[in-house]
Amino acid sequence: MRLIAHGPMAAEVSKAGGIGFIGSGNDQSKLHEQLSDAQSLLSSCPPSQIIRGANDTLPIGVGFLNWGADLDVALPLLKKYRPAAVWLFAPHTIDTLVQWTRETRKATDNASKVWIQVCSVAEALDVARTCEPDVLVIQGVDAGGHGLHQGCSICALLPEAIDALQNAVQNREVKSMPTILAAGGVMEGRGLAAALALGAEGVVMGTRYLVADEAEIRQGYKDEVIRATDGGQTTVRTSVYDQLRRTTEWPKQYGGRSVTNQSYHDAINGMPLEENMRLYNEAAEMGDKGWGPQGRMTTYAGTAVGLVTRLQSAKNITKEVRAEARAVIKNLSDVMSSTGNL
Ligand SMILES: Cc1cc2nc3c(=O)[nH]c(=O)nc-3n(C[C@H](O)[C@H](O)[C@H](O)COP(=O)(O)O)c2cc1C
Repeated sequence: MRLIAHGPMAAEVSKAGGIGFIGSGNDQSKLHEQLSDAQSLLSSCPPSQIIRGANDTLPIGVGFLNWGADLDVALPLLKKYRPAAVWLFAPHTIDTLVQWTRETRKATDNASKVWIQVCSVAEALDVARTCEPDVLVIQGVDAGGHGLHQGCSICALLPEAIDALQNAVQNREVKSMPTILAAGGVMEGRGLAAALALGAEGVVMGTRYLVADEAEIRQGYKDEVIRATDGGQTTVRTSVYDQLRRTTEWPKQYGGRSVTNQSYHDAINGMPLEENMRLYNEAAEMGDKGWGPQGRMTTYAGTAVGLVTRLQSAKNITKEVRAEARAVIKNLSDVMSSTGNL
């Protein structure tokens, strides 16, 4: 998560048994500092907690937004720090993903695994064929932040994408099956268990970590994520906030899912962009009061935002979700054994 997930967030998630990502996004000017922070946080773990990445990698990932990320700045840093995973998303053309995949593997001697986030069956097939990623993150429309304007939930997307990929492997159009992860709408153990049932090997969570102690956002943003409920009605995927924040280099098929507020309502009611921007800049001066239903500040969050109810450390979120999923799966298996054949 660009500008939100830095070294401390990434290190804490990884220490808890997940893999945390630094959101480097489209601007790599702070990447050196972020990687160095994460490295020292991980190396100062007590011996009982020391975790190591495979192939001598740093056990975190780095996420890039490929419509703007700078490969020339990134490559020497990837070579130096060897993060366990490199995450790619949202290029203008697929050639950019091919180039980043090839160069990342070359720079890290294949040590860093390439994760690519996609939002449709067609994109999953294209990326699997052309990039041969280690991991495909399949993002459904419920996801917070950016994704395709037109999409569907992981409930529909994951099984169809998995079947299509398996067919493509059988027909030799795709060399091998990547690891599949699900993203979008998973906030807790029930969502994780459901994603596993749909065929994913794990999940990616964004919105839930917005309320982590380590998330570098204003308290007003965190409070609004905790306050918001009924995300199908109260969030929307839109380009309004990109216009207001001047992040308009996103390819046009992407929009950011945000909790709606006055900026959005005024935009759809016809307020001219310049006036909306003026009010947005005023709200930015109001600190934490800039958020909330009467506020104007961007509140990227997914449709399952109503399941996020309290502040927590990134470590506790990671551990809690895994423990909840184990309990759900055990309960399902108990139901199956007590009922026999359904
Ligand atoms: C505030 C926020 C910022 C995000 N930033 C990025 C990003 O920089 N790059 C990216 O690939 N995905 C980004 N995402 C999307 C996540 O990768 C992921 O698909 C999504 O958070 C999963 O859905 P969830 O929010 O329902 O957990 C962001 C999501 C949120 C909520």
